[in-house]
Amino acid sequence: MLKTFAAVVAGTLLLLALTPAHALDNGLALTPPMGWNSWNSFHCDVSAKLVEATADAMVSSGMRAAGYVYVNIDDCWLLKKRGRNGGLVPDPKKFPHGIEAVAAYLHRKGLKLGIYESAGTTTCAGYPGSIGHERQDAAQFARWGVDYLKYDNCGGYEGETYLRRYTAMRDALAHSGRRIVYSLCEWGNKEPWSWAQPVGNLWRTTQDITPRWRTDQPANGYPQGILDILDQQAKLSTASRPGAWNDPDMLEVGNGYLSDEENKAHFSLWALLNAPLIAGNDLRSMSQDVRDILTNREVIAVDQDWGGRQGYRVSDDGNTQVWAKPMSDGSVAVILLNERRGPVNIATTAQAIGLKKAGSYGVRDLWKHTDSVSAGRIEATVGTHAVAMFRIRVRS
Ligand code: GLA
Repeated sequence: MLKTFAAVVAGTLLLLALTPAHALDNGLALTPPMGWNSWNSFHCDVSAKLVEATADAMVSSGMRAAGYVYVNIDDCWLLKKRGRNGGLVPDPKKFPHGIEAVAAYLHRKGLKLGIYESAGTTTCAGYPGSIGHERQDAAQFARWGVDYLKYDNCGGYEGETYLRRYTAMRDALAHSGRRIVYSLCEWGNKEPWSWAQPVGNLWRTTQDITPRWRTDQPANGYPQGILDILDQQAKLSTASRPGAWNDPDMLEVGNGYLSDEENKAHFSLWALLNAPLIAGNDLRSMSQDVRDILTNREVIAVDQDWGGRQGYRVSDDGNTQVWAKPMSDGSVAVILLNERRGPVNIATTAQAIGLKKAGSYGVRDLWKHTDSVSAGRIEATVGTHAVAMFRIRVRS
């Protein structure tokens, strides 16, 4: 009897801890986080030198001024064995002065540090994972001055459910004494958009991104091109809210063989999706074109506008798509996407994207930075694998 009662109480407490009414309320990521992560360009080749030079480039390129703030170290920053006290040990060859010194370097520049761990026995590259060590590791991150944790899904799960594995680290971070953005990297396996709002500030919605337009993989294939991932976001637009974001994975802008137009399309679409804008290219050597894309403030403003909704797909004819996002000032951001070879004319109307009937509309081109007026038709000739992106408002 007592046992049954205890089980009911425990079950109720678990439910309470997981219901959206108890949404993660850490006051962080009220707009989608912006920054950089080492994985897409450097994989295991991380070091204090790389992180600090990236921070310098973030400042000198104008990215910091445009809103990028997190500099995130991904996998492989640590030794293959925990230390004598059971703590994680930064690889002294890669981080000769420890993680604390890197955090201090970033903080002096007005930037923040992110780190990576896994909700399993190992990270994806085979380093010690955090399962069973959540309290100790979270406390360690807090002592080092870490501001952001990407929490992966590799290693053994020791019989624990995904909910327990991810909530254990949420609770450990809450207990750590430091405000740390909590980024779930569960790859969309268990539909985190349906349960992760009270658990993390953002959750990966797909398998890993790769710098290709499309990979022709089935929906859950690995890896995913830009358009493969986009297809999987269409059904998720109502799941995000301030402090809780869908994460279609880090940016590949400037990576691989993506063309200038593909880079612009990728950046525009991620902004319309309210995605975290976490650059994944080598900031130290990026071209002027890539820099201009990453610092396009009119596109960034669409991403950072949380008063409206995440963008949603208005139409898709198999070759072209229209996406729209209601902005908090009453305007609507719209993307006309050509998935294939162009040029092709793509058109929609102000009413189709949710604006009220009016005599005329102001049309701001977010890439050409020009203004025009329309009676209601919104159209553009869009080239190969490209987008046109506008912000439309009622004029009269
Ligand atoms: C997984 C994640 C990637 C990256 C690697 C690191 O694949 O999804 O984003 O963090 O692990 O090993």
